[in-house]
Formats: sequence, C-alpha cells, structure tokens
Amino acid sequence: MTFPARRLRRMRRTPALRRLVAETTVTPDDLVAPLFVREDAAEPQPIGSLPGIVQHTQESLRTEVSELAALGISGVVLFGLPARKDALGSQAWNPDGVVQVALRNLRDDHGAEVAVIADLCLDEYTDHGHCGVVTDSGDIDNDATLELYQRVALAQAAAGADMVAPSGMMDGQVGAIRQALDRNGFEGLPIMAYSAKYASAEYGPFRDAVDVTIAGGGDRKGYQQDPANAREAMAEIELDIAEGADIVMVKPALAYLDVIAAARARFDLPLAAYHVSGEYAMLKAAAANGWIDGAATAVEHLTAIKRAGAGLILTYLAREFAETLQ
Ligand code: PBG
Repeated sequence: MTFPARRLRRMRRTPALRRLVAETTVTPDDLVAPLFVREDAAEPQPIGSLPGIVQHTQESLRTEVSELAALGISGVVLFGLPARKDALGSQAWNPDGVVQVALRNLRDDHGAEVAVIADLCLDEYTDHGHCGVVTDSGDIDNDATLELYQRVALAQAAAGADMVAPSGMMDGQVGAIRQALDRNGFEGLPIMAYSAKYASAEYGPFRDAVDVTIAGGGDRKGYQQDPANAREAMAEIELDIAEGADIVMVKPALAYLDVIAAARARFDLPLAAYHVSGEYAMLKAAAANGWIDGAATAVEHLTAIKRAGAGLILTYLAREFAETLQ
C-alpha cells in the first residue's frame, strides 16, 4: 500500500535526491561580509560579543578581503571607527577618513572582483552616537542630516566605493544621495537602501564593534521602525524605490521573515536582508555552549532567509559559511 504522501518522502531518501529537489541553495555569491576597520588600531582587535569578528587595521582588512574574494564571497560592506568623533561626525566625509582610505586600498587590490560597499551613516562618527544632527532640544534634524549624508556619499564615491548603503533611516536620504551622486558624475553608482530597518534589540554587539554608545541611554525608536509593523515596511520600501534605490533591504532578518516575504512578493528590485550582529551572537553563544550545532544552524538560518525571498544576505557568517563549502 503506498500513500500519495510517499511521493514527497521518496525524494528525501539520499542527499543527492534531496539536492535535486532543493528549492533553495545558499552560495557565497549571495553573501556580503560586514567588516570593521579601525583608524587607531595597530593590531586587529577582537570584539567580545562577536566571536571570530575583529576591528581591522588597514592592512588586516586588505588580507581579509583577499581571502574572502578567494572564497567566492561577492561583496563586503565597510564600517569605520575613526580616531576622533565630533558632534557632526565630520570624519565620515574626510577624504582621508578611515573608510575612504580602505576603499582606495581595496579598489587597488581587487578592482571588480569583490563589490566593496560603504555603509553610509554617521553614528560611528558622532560623539553622541546618533545617526544624524542632534538639535538643542535633543531631536534629530532630518534635513540638516541629509546634507551631511550627501557629503559622505561623495567622499565614498570619490574613494572608489562600488555601492553606497545609507543606513540612517532619515526621510528622503535615498533621494538626496542620488541627487548628489548624479550631479557629481557618479550616475553609475548604485544605492543599497536599508529601507525597512527596525529599532531592534539585536544590534547590541554591533555597537560594541563600532564603539558606539547612544548619549543619555537613548535609542533609535524615533527614526527606526517599530517591530510591531509590517505594512509600514512596504511603505518605507516603496518610498526608497521611488527615490532611486537600486537594492532594498530588510533588517534584521530572522525575526522579520514575513516582511522579507511580503517585500519579495510586492517589489521586483533586488532584495537584501541583514542577518545582524545579535542574530550571529545568539547563534555563536549557543554553539559555544554545545547547545546547538553552530554550522548546521548557520546553514539553516541562511537558507531560511533566502527561502523567504532575500537574494542577498549581509552576514557575519559569510566567511565560515564559504569555508565549510570548501
Ligand atoms: C547604523 C547601523 C547599525 C547596524 C548597521 N548600520 C546600527 C544601528 O542602527 O544601531 C547594525 C548592524 C548589526 O547589528 O549587525 N550605522
């Protein structure tokens, strides 16, 4: 007696049969590795809450990107730690700022082999830790911030970024950056917009990685999205597309698979998801305790993010995932 359901089970019998019918496969082509580069570091600095990830020196960054390229990783996204922070975050647009130096080095090393993406924000550069200009009353001045984002975009473009990725969630940031790029001869430079970026508790280890503490114990709930809302994410993404985004992003990933799936169904541009620092840290902590199989869980999580509809995934797992395939 065979039941109709056997038809599905028969295809699960061997690894080869399973591979033949797999609907989703993650490859290094899909992955972007987030990397940190620190201006005043003489040696790479480990980050306690992100095991295996470091704050790079310019030299160790070059080595890391060469190795990622050899592993077939398609992209890296750079975050900078300046030696000096100030109220406006002016090191973010210094032509010799830490990320601009890194961009020039990596362009010399790799040309078109790896897409070098510059995260475009101010929080790593401001002494108060916010993503924009803070007014006397403590609010964020959206429009004054846009002007600064334009300067950062031009500095990153001039230094050789393959793409800029605004992550500050200011209104109109994609349009403002697109306009600045177009007016200065960078019509060909794409923008990956952190469109649906939630005010998540899962960014904690990232703030250790970039030495950011938000002044006065503040948070970003005034400009990042409320985790309660999914339809609002569609509105955010739609606005970014209208302003000229080339890739749109949902962030974080695993707690927002519904948002990724809805965005995939609704929009036809490339869709990215950011598997963030807290998601990586939780996986690593449980694996270090022997509570889960870290490598298997990593594959399962990345597969789920792609299955939900993300075509590219920013993840701290990029390197080890590519290594386990080798
Ligand atoms: C803002 C930015 C953040 C992350 C990426 N870009 C932090 C924040 O919004 O507070 C978080 C990434 C992560 O947690 O891995 N520049």
